Amino acid sequence: MRLFLDTANLDEIKKVAAWGVLGGVTTNPTLVAKEGADFHRRIRDIAAVVDGPISAEVLATDASGMVREAEILATLAPNVVIKVPVGEAGLTAAAELSSRGIPTNVTLIFSANQALLAALSGATYVSPFVGRLDDISQDGMAVVRETVEVFRQGGFATQVIAASIRHPIHVLDAAKCGAHVATVPFKVLQVMLHHPLTDVGVAHFLADWEKAKAHLTSAES
Ligand code: G3P
Repeated sequence: MRLFLDTANLDEIKKVAAWGVLGGVTTNPTLVAKEGADFHRRIRDIAAVVDGPISAEVLATDASGMVREAEILATLAPNVVIKVPVGEAGLTAAAELSSRGIPTNVTLIFSANQALLAALSGATYVSPFVGRLDDISQDGMAVVRETVEVFRQGGFATQVIAASIRHPIHVLDAAKCGAHVATVPFKVLQVMLHHPLTDVGVAHFLADWEKAKAHLTSAES
């Protein structure tokens, strides 16, 4: 499973890229608005750091408006993926973009049936929102699991991005379900990385090394 970062924050993106674990980036209008940055400029700036897919979402609510926006977004960088919300307009836009070879991420998926329709329309990715389903007492990961199974059985090339990830258990469960990607907020990646026993272990090793130094030859110290 690849890890994408779910953010429009450049510092976070640069940091995670340096860790060597960054497979791509997903943005949405909320994440871009939070940064107070110019949308197109920010996508270009992200593309200067990230080789993998970068999802940029359209704001039009009709299919031809979505396609017009997508045409502009696709010129920003070769690795831009057009994010469209699932629905009649979204599927129409995804079908048109797919016929032109422009990659798409059909988002706001809350059921495996929505994901199936998106895959049939030619979507490159679908994004089931795990956390938002959990928030309303529905099993978000079940939609990821079912979608992965449906795509596997149907031989679809469409990839599943587990989105709306809220904590590290979501990431592990997405990997166990066979999701192709989990798109993860920076704070969740930090929680995944750190463990108090690692910090304690490093402190002990350094303290022990201070004691051992007394016995080192000058060439070793
Ligand atoms: O990028 C889409 C998705 O990951 C949003 O997550 O936390 O706003 O439900 P959230």
